[in-house]
Amino acid sequence: WIGMNFPIDHLPEVLDTPSFVYSRRMLGERAQQALACQTPFGLTVRYAIKANSHPEIIRLFDELGLQFDASSSYEAALLLEQGVSGPTISLSSQQPAHNLDELLQAGVRYVATSLHQLELFAASPHHPNTVGLRLNPGMGSGHNNRTMTGGVNSSFGLWHAYTEQAVELARRHDITIDRLHIHIGSGADPRLWGEAIDAALALVGRLPEVTILDIGGGFKVHRFGDEQEADLAAICEVFSRKLSQFAEETGRQLHLEIEPGTWLVAYAGVLVAKVVDIVDTGADGHTFLRLDTGMNDVTRPGMYGAQHEMMVLVGREEQREYIVVGHCCETGDILTPAPNNPENLASRRLARAEIGDKLVIFDAGAYCQSMSLKQYNAYPDAGTYFID
Ligand code: LLP
Repeated sequence: WIGMNFPIDHLPEVLDTPSFVYSRRMLGERAQQALACQTPFGLTVRYAIKANSHPEIIRLFDELGLQFDASSSYEAALLLEQGVSGPTISLSSQQPAHNLDELLQAGVRYVATSLHQLELFAASPHHPNTVGLRLNPGMGSGHNNRTMTGGVNSSFGLWHAYTEQAVELARRHDITIDRLHIHIGSGADPRLWGEAIDAALALVGRLPEVTILDIGGGFKVHRFGDEQEADLAAICEVFSRKLSQFAEETGRQLHLEIEPGTWLVAYAGVLVAKVVDIVDTGADGHTFLRLDTGMNDVTRPGMYGAQHEMMVLVGREEQREYIVVGHCCETGDILTPAPNNPENLASRRLARAEIGDKLVIFDAGAYCQSMSLKQYNAYPDAGTYFID
């Protein structure tokens, strides 16, 4: 479990809780590892900033040479404001861009995710003559229904059966679809990634002018228990094999793009909170450890039954079983739900805690601060610190 390498010995001595603390070193190491991956006709690593759009993380990754994936026109605008150059940004959004002309003028690479979005692109006076197209290939591999982004139950991307309609529409406007984008969810199994790229290549076959394939993100990390860690290098080997084979068969040499979010940042952040109360529900009940944080800062457990490792910083020998809960006035504000099942509770064995102790929630670099709830119970935003 890579997250255990987080330098908790170097947490700032004075630190308000709750606060997110990020390790620049760990962010840099993951970025370098991703950049070291290779595919036969070139690889672009785009950081999906939805995972964490903190300006320092954007700056660090920009300096290291990562490119970016924006999931809304607001994310794209945020990247431009941070000084990221337009052509290194790819925009693939569910909502049509509020600032389409501006983004196109800045050179942002646009991915249409529906026929309507393709029409809007064609109607902009600033559109280049090439565009990306996101397709739903009809399969998905999320770890649960809420993270599955392909298949009939997912609204993301143009349904594959309408591919020719998109080609025709683009052609009418003298636009070439040169980039195919698919993102089908999260996974660790290289074989599943092999199937994903097979599905993508079958679609490339129907898009004769595509030269770039963006296979999306969803490279899973091991946060807890028997979760599987995606070996990015091994997955890229599978990609490479498939791309070489495709090139032999068709003569088409595709440049590959990947869009990891979680994989790049999850381990590099922790949330430091404080135990503010300890209550129980009697002999047949539970002991609840209440923190000064909760679903407003970390929504993942309540949404997906996601698991995050936790540690009471004062490491007492004695251990206890606790249900760790947040401070929101909401029964579902449970930080230790049953795995993948937010309906149920699962107790954690932790060092015996006392009110006032600090508790660290690990692997909080991805989709915690960026997915925080605004305004609920008027709790203020958590603090942010960066350490080396
Ligand atoms: N590219 C696209 C088009 C995406 O929709 C996503 C994630 C990514 C890249 C990055 O995926 P990643 O590598 O971070 O898995 N909020 C969730 C998972 C849903 C992510 C939605 N799309 C979580 O907390 O795990």
